[in-house]
Amino acid sequence: MNNPIDMRILQPFEVNQLTIIPSNYKDDLKEVLIPRGLIEDRISKLSEDIGVKSPVNGKCNLNDMYFAICILRGASRFFNDLIKWPLEAETDYWPANSYAGTTSTGAVKLGNFDLTKIPGRKVLLVEDIIDTGRTLNEIRREILSCNPLSLDIVCLLDKPSRREVEVPVNYVGFTIPDKFVVGYGLDFNERYRDLNHIGVLKEEVYQVK
Ligand code: IMP
Ligand code: MG
Repeated sequence: MNNPIDMRILQPFEVNQLTIIPSNYKDDLKEVLIPRGLIEDRISKLSEDIGVKSPVNGKCNLNDMYFAICILRGASRFFNDLIKWPLEAETDYWPANSYAGTTSTGAVKLGNFDLTKIPGRKVLLVEDIIDTGRTLNEIRREILSCNPLSLDIVCLLDKPSRREVEVPVNYVGFTIPDKFVVGYGLDFNERYRDLNHIGVLKEEVYQVK
């Protein structure tokens, strides 16, 4: 694995220390774990690290280029910011679901995906967060059964304390503590995806909804 930023040893930010928190979210947030600027900077570094290892320079044939697959819906914002120069890639999207509220149901539901695109390709699987590891494990198994040329996995966040299934992840943005996080594409019952920071909700928010 690369060298993620360890948010477990850093102090979270108070909500009032940061800007661009919509007023209707402000009261719901306990703290901000990763501010927007740090998320963006870290993703630029990941694009560089992954892209420099796989230079394309506009001249290669399709099979030398990454085929980047975004796991929907949580990773969509991360994906949009990650797939940019120097990380050029052909892209596609794969829906997956295992969460109800703040808990993993343990059963991973995979949506439709055209697996005929995978054989012989250099696949880059892009996920928002690895928690129990079940989602990535399922998708990884499906991809490997289709004979890709190679498979690399990148996650914005890693919550290692909750792991139930070990999955080899090549690139991680941040290691985080065992807290349910929202924002930057991650949701609680489809809310908070549009928050620009990654934050932790107050406990009463889970209890009310
Ligand atoms: P896993 O299968 O348990 O590794 O969970 C992975 C999926 O659960 C991710 O793709 C997320 O969509 C969701 N998830 C896990 N932890 C969180 C969290 O703290 N906030 C929001 N979604 C989460
Ligand atoms: Mg996800």
